[in-house]
Amino acid sequence: MSQDEHPITQFRRWLSAAESEGIRDHNAIALATAGPGQMPNVRMVLLKGVEDSGFVFFTNYESPKAQELTTGCGAAFVIFWRELGRQVRVRGPIERLEQHLSDQYYASRPLQSRYGAWVSRQSSPLKSKADLVASAAKAAARFGIDPPRPPFWGGYRLRPLEIEFWSEGRHRLHDRFRWTRRTVSASEWTTCRLYP
Ligand SMILES: Cc1cc2nc3c(=O)[nH]c(=O)nc-3n(C[C@H](O)[C@H](O)[C@H](O)COP(=O)(O)O)c2cc1C
Repeated sequence: MSQDEHPITQFRRWLSAAESEGIRDHNAIALATAGPGQMPNVRMVLLKGVEDSGFVFFTNYESPKAQELTTGCGAAFVIFWRELGRQVRVRGPIERLEQHLSDQYYASRPLQSRYGAWVSRQSSPLKSKADLVASAAKAAARFGIDPPRPPFWGGYRLRPLEIEFWSEGRHRLHDRFRWTRRTVSASEWTTCRLYP
């Protein structure tokens, strides 16, 4: 781990290493959110893009997480690769992904997942699995082979203000480096080593 490297470059390097290692769901992150005055919430989502400007994931815009992303002060995520002894923590404000980028990603998904997005009222009570399967079949009949992206489904971008890299050391003397910047448009990051 080098303090000279840009934190996004370093993140990409670690993510690729996890992929090359063959780690299943190497891009699964635990995404934490909190609405104002509410208990924090956390769940796994898949990290689908690491852009220079931030970290991209996709979800239902009417889900509890989306409500918390909209009303809260940003989000945080952690990713951990046991096999590599590495963890990264990220915090920052959130923005919706541009529509054309959500369209692009939606179109790249397997067809059944595209129907699935249409029929999931994510995190609302569901009477039975059979209802869900029947709704997916109806969506398939309605939209055919080229379903449009549902208006209530798309991406978010977390724009990092803090990125912390943790690398396992012997005798629990781990390495930790935290990068911070004042605003999401600042190109200057400052970095410091932390006690484990
Ligand atoms: C490995 C894994 C990956 C997941 N990826 C996503 C994802 O990319 N987007 C998503 O909306 N939910 C994903 N989920 C489901 C979420 O964890 C969660 O159940 C769902 O989004 C509802 O969360 P909410 O009620 O907090 O909005 C994933 C679950 C697991 C276990």
